[in-house]
Amino acid sequence: MKVEKQELHELIQKKLHRAGLTEEHADVVADVLVHADIRGYHSHGAMRVEYYAERIAKGGLNTNPNFTFEKTGPTTAVFDGDNAVGHVVAKESMKEAIKMAKENGIAVVGAKRMGHSGALSYFVQQAAEEDLIGISVCQSDPMVVPFGGAEPYYGTNPIAFAARGSNGEVVTFDMATTVQAWGKILDKRSRNEEIPDTWAVDKEGNPTTDPFKVNALLPIAGPKGYGLMMMVDILSGVLLGLPHGKHVSSMYEDLTEYRNLGQLHIVINPEYFVGLKLFKESLTDSMHDLNKIKPAPGFKEVSYPGQRSADREKQNEENGIEIVDEILEYLKSDVVHNNRYDHKDPFAK
Ligand code: NAI
Repeated sequence: MKVEKQELHELIQKKLHRAGLTEEHADVVADVLVHADIRGYHSHGAMRVEYYAERIAKGGLNTNPNFTFEKTGPTTAVFDGDNAVGHVVAKESMKEAIKMAKENGIAVVGAKRMGHSGALSYFVQQAAEEDLIGISVCQSDPMVVPFGGAEPYYGTNPIAFAARGSNGEVVTFDMATTVQAWGKILDKRSRNEEIPDTWAVDKEGNPTTDPFKVNALLPIAGPKGYGLMMMVDILSGVLLGLPHGKHVSSMYEDLTEYRNLGQLHIVINPEYFVGLKLFKESLTDSMHDLNKIKPAPGFKEVSYPGQRSADREKQNEENGIEIVDEILEYLKSDVVHNNRYDHKDPFAK
């Protein structure tokens, strides 16, 4: 069913407040989730509310956190999120990174001890909206085999980048470092369809086409994706003194425990390099060049990263956002959660 952006925001905010978040924090989470839904990333939108609500209700997120921010050098800082909901920690720490990059040309801010922060595009766009380049990476629960391995070690460890051109258009590149998200496996299970043998492996580490035999996901482009997810884990885990690799907490294993996750923002001020005006003009030139590239057979056009999501956002802003009926019913109901997610299994069923 289609729902207006503002209505979706209010429904999510109310539900999370009811679960135990302050109104202010619930407002930020709603903002990040609606951002994902309106841009077409439903896997990180309203469908996550019930999981968060259950985790909040069971004490696995700190609803009364004490944030601390420590500048460790002219361009470096650590934000301690005290295991608050990750969206708020990521947003607040990005605000600090933006201030520092405006003053000093660059900022590297680590956010430590936080919950899941959702779609990273939201946070890198905070920087782009201030005419800065935003980069963000974060840890995620272990469900991916390292290249050549038969057991999960890393998470789907995403990487995001955003920058704004001279006409206000934003390049937003935001991806998991796995071929497919776990949600896509669940989708295929529900439809009783096979998966391509490039997505995941079974218990022995063999590629599988049976979604029910999946034991771990595969990194993008073999050893290259494996290297990228390792880099993300080093920057957002090892560098911040947090549990890393296979020791990162699982999303669904214990909803009563804090997750202690990490995220790292790098913000670059173009003014300190080529100058803002030329940077923005050149970026716009690149976007236009890309759009003029002759499309390959089967493609209508070449888009720059984030272009299609931005178009979708405009359309959904006017026509409403398509949300699965079951999710809307839950959001409109009086139920806080249905005790569905605490199944002591690292993978969602
Ligand atoms: P995706 O595979 O749908 O897109 C990846 C990138 O490719 C995007 O930047 C998109 O703009 C670009 N793209 C896709 N099709 C394109 C086309 N035809 N032309 C040009 N560019 C195109 O994204 P993925 O990997 O499924 O990630 C989805 C979301 O999940 C992201 O927001 C990510 O941050 C989030 N995520 C969050 C995690 C967390 O623990 N917080 C873990 C993993 C993912």
